[in-house]
Amino acid sequence: MFSRLWVAAALYAVALSAPTYPYSTGAAERSAEMGVLSEYFQMLASKVQAGKNMAEAPVCDLSKAVMPVASTTPLPPPSAGLTLKHVAIGRGTQNYTCGTDASAAPFAVGAMATLYNSTCVASTYPDLLSVLPNVALQFDLTDVNQASLSPTNLLISGHHYFQNLTTPTFNLDTAAMDIGFAPCSKNNSVPAPAGSPQGQGGVGHGSVAWLKLIAEDGATGDLEEVYRVNTAGGNPPATCAGMPAAFEVQYAAEYWFFKKA
Ligand SMILES: *[C@@H]1O[C@H](CO)[C@@H](O)[C@H](O)[C@H]1NC(C)=O
Ligand SMILES: *[C@@H]1O[C@H](CO)[C@@H](O)[C@H](O)[C@H]1NC(C)=O
Ligand SMILES: *[C@@H]1O[C@H](CO)[C@@H](O)[C@H](O)[C@H]1NC(C)=O
Ligand SMILES: *[C@@H]1O[C@H](CO)[C@@H](O)[C@H](O)[C@H]1NC(C)=O
Repeated sequence: MFSRLWVAAALYAVALSAPTYPYSTGAAERSAEMGVLSEYFQMLASKVQAGKNMAEAPVCDLSKAVMPVASTTPLPPPSAGLTLKHVAIGRGTQNYTCGTDASAAPFAVGAMATLYNSTCVASTYPDLLSVLPNVALQFDLTDVNQASLSPTNLLISGHHYFQNLTTPTFNLDTAAMDIGFAPCSKNNSVPAPAGSPQGQGGVGHGSVAWLKLIAEDGATGDLEEVYRVNTAGGNPPATCAGMPAAFEVQYAAEYWFFKKA
């Protein structure tokens, strides 16, 4: 029970220690998404209440965590023999470029995100985990090395970036934990399910695809496969009309990391 409450505590805003507001009303980027935040804090409150009544139970049991599956067009499942190693919420930007053709679609040139350890949340409170990307999207990342994910207290577990256009890379080695390093290639992609968030403040062009990535040579920590699911935001406008030569679109997502058993 202690650990479950600890997880709930990790999901609270730092600002909770200030008695009246669970988050600073000025902190969310756009007030339009206050409904999202309110749903989050209501869910949290009920978890804390449930935790008080819960008998001692194994917590942070990764075998209990179930990765979300898009119902209409699922991604291929993790390969046989792999086990879950880590779950993180990624918060950052998708980067795009535009040329002079205003009717062309923006060109994806990679992404950059800070990863926050959500492993215990995934195994203990999956419903809360599923709203976290959209909640996190409402708060700007002020620094790529920001220690915890606003408005939660989830702690940084690494960084996501692109080594080149085709190599999304995850570095999960930090001073706190060596989880592994994984340069990846894309194996499969399905559109974000209908009803996925539009973007920050509820305004935008929808959520980036769900992905299955395969770790390439140079991976460590036995990391083999990485999934990006429950995406929130990140899509560019359909065309380059009115867009600058380079721009970023805010996004967040769940990343699930699988290793050799
Ligand atoms: C952080 O990640 C490690 C490795 O996946 C996991 O064992 C640990 O339970 C995680 N901690 C939290 C608070 O999620
Ligand atoms: C991208 O980086 C990967 C990993 O370093 C490398 O194997 C691949 O050849 C590079 N591709 C290009 C087009 O440079
Ligand atoms: C995806 O992975 C499967 C299983 O390893 C493989 O058979 C398939 O060719 C891969 N597809 C792509 C597009 O990489
Ligand atoms: C795109 O991503 C890089 C990190 O890979 C970042 O430094 C850069 O400022 C981003 N934005 C644009 C508009 O290129």
